[in-house]
Amino acid sequence: MPEPDRLYQAPVLEGSEATCYTGSGPGASRSRGKVKHVRHIDLADELATELLGRRIAATLKRGDLVTLSGELGAGKTTLARAMIRTRAGVLIEVPSPTFTLVQTYPETDPEIWHADLYRLDRPGEVDELGLGEALDAAAVIVEWPERARRPLGGDRLDVTLVHTGAGSRRATLTAHGSWKGRLRHV
Ligand SMILES: Nc1ncnc2c1ncn2[C@@H]1O[C@H](COP(=O)(O)OP(=O)(O)OP(=O)(O)O)[C@@H](O)[C@H]1O
Ligand SMILES: [Mg+2]
Repeated sequence: MPEPDRLYQAPVLEGSEATCYTGSGPGASRSRGKVKHVRHIDLADELATELLGRRIAATLKRGDLVTLSGELGAGKTTLARAMIRTRAGVLIEVPSPTFTLVQTYPETDPEIWHADLYRLDRPGEVDELGLGEALDAAAVIVEWPERARRPLGGDRLDVTLVHTGAGSRRATLTAHGSWKGRLRHV
């Protein structure tokens, strides 16, 4: 992986640190020169992950799709929970949708659907969840998107979390469609 350019040192809040970088990657556009569509963000602890969730949530609107990838315990639900609570404005319960597959939050603005595809029995089952239709009226967050075996939408932000230590993670954000113009605000 090429050494990313240091772009932005996020504010330190309550002892938590997140360091953000931009870099070229498969999603980056060379023809547009300085516009980068991939960002790497080092998350020192769980609070830093929550702060990233809040920043992504701040740009969230109806029709947005955010996918969260990473191994078990990488922090996908932690990130999604922070996003949902940000748009709810209060500390609502946000259980993992591991068994229900989808949890909906009509009380958030925009409405959010939170899905976890880990326990999909077959890839075709994802169509029955109605996530595509939900995007007409809601924002959709999907954990384990690779279980669907095909892209869930073209206009999306892909977030991958990897362990870099017991309590630290590295997030890679790849923007597609309208997210390309919004990535620098995250
Ligand atoms: N920097 C961090 N970011 C997120 N979670 C962290 C971090 N450090 C430690 N943790 C812990 O790691 C766990 C992450 O659990 P979480 O349910 O968010 O993972 P997940 O990726 O959704 O897993 P699954 O694939 O099982 O759904 C939590 O117990 C959390 O407290
Ligand atoms: Mg989870």
